[in-house]
Amino acid sequence: MHRDFLAIPDFSAAELESVFRLAGSMRRGEYAGKPLAGKSLAMIFMKASTRTRVSFEVGAWQLGGHALFLSPRDIQLGRGEPIADTARVLSRYVDGIMIRTFAHADVEELARYADVPVINGLTDLLHPCQVMADLLTVRQHLGGIQGKQVAWVGDGNNMANSWINASYRLGFALTLACPEGYDPDPVLLARAQSAASVRVVRSPAEAVSGADVVNTDVWASMGQEEEQERRARAFAGYTVDAALMSRAKPSAIFLHCLPAHRGEEVAAEVIDGPQSRVWDEAENRLHVQKAIMATLMGGAEAA
Ligand code: CP
Ligand code: NVA
Repeated sequence: MHRDFLAIPDFSAAELESVFRLAGSMRRGEYAGKPLAGKSLAMIFMKASTRTRVSFEVGAWQLGGHALFLSPRDIQLGRGEPIADTARVLSRYVDGIMIRTFAHADVEELARYADVPVINGLTDLLHPCQVMADLLTVRQHLGGIQGKQVAWVGDGNNMANSWINASYRLGFALTLACPEGYDPDPVLLARAQSAASVRVVRSPAEAVSGADVVNTDVWASMGQEEEQERRARAFAGYTVDAALMSRAKPSAIFLHCLPAHRGEEVAAEVIDGPQSRVWDEAENRLHVQKAIMATLMGGAEAA
């Protein structure tokens, strides 16, 4: 029976802790294991990617394995071959599948029909590997997420929903400031609110006030390019600039999953400023995904 990583709550709090400990040892260069020796990861990308593609490919190689980049231009999935058939066929060749696509239901279908672990590399609903890297960055710079106050400013998108899922599983306080009409997923929000302090407000200042972590993301995600102008109007006043950042704790860190649009969701003075941890955050994609691959595909226990 294989296990997948489609959403952060697929792992228990104890399992997440193991992944973070293993990822931390990988970052510090203390891990020399090759749990993917002789194994392959198929990477299906229906959307563009810099970080996800490179970190998974390099990560698989560093663990002794091999990764295949599969774009819809090259594989039959892009010409309408069913997801279920793709899942069954790939499972005969590879030891794990990473997929980035639009509908979250497509990833769930792939996982249902695959006989190997499936890892979600971003859907319209969730981006769990990125928030795992974000949590690892919080651990690296602030010593852990417990008792921390996290602020989200902007779109209630796949990143916001994954932060909500993280709060549901790990119990930290999360306040999201989203304009009306751009709220996060109501089902995920309600579930998290049953377990943790998760609030949606309209005021970025209210969300950021006293926060340990300030987070934002683009106003128009992949697939929403034609909404860019309408969104820019709706998100006026939601830019994370130095004035907004000054409402957070002086020790607060700024995170952004990247790619970023300076002058839109974040001012250059913040993303390129002293509180920004975005390059460590991007690096941590590599470490945390290696830990996830080692756990799901290599049977690795936490170091
Ligand atoms: N943050 C992130 O997932 O980046 P890419 O789109 O470059 O993979
Ligand atoms: N919300 C963004 C994240 C990109 C990594 C998008 O889906 O395009």
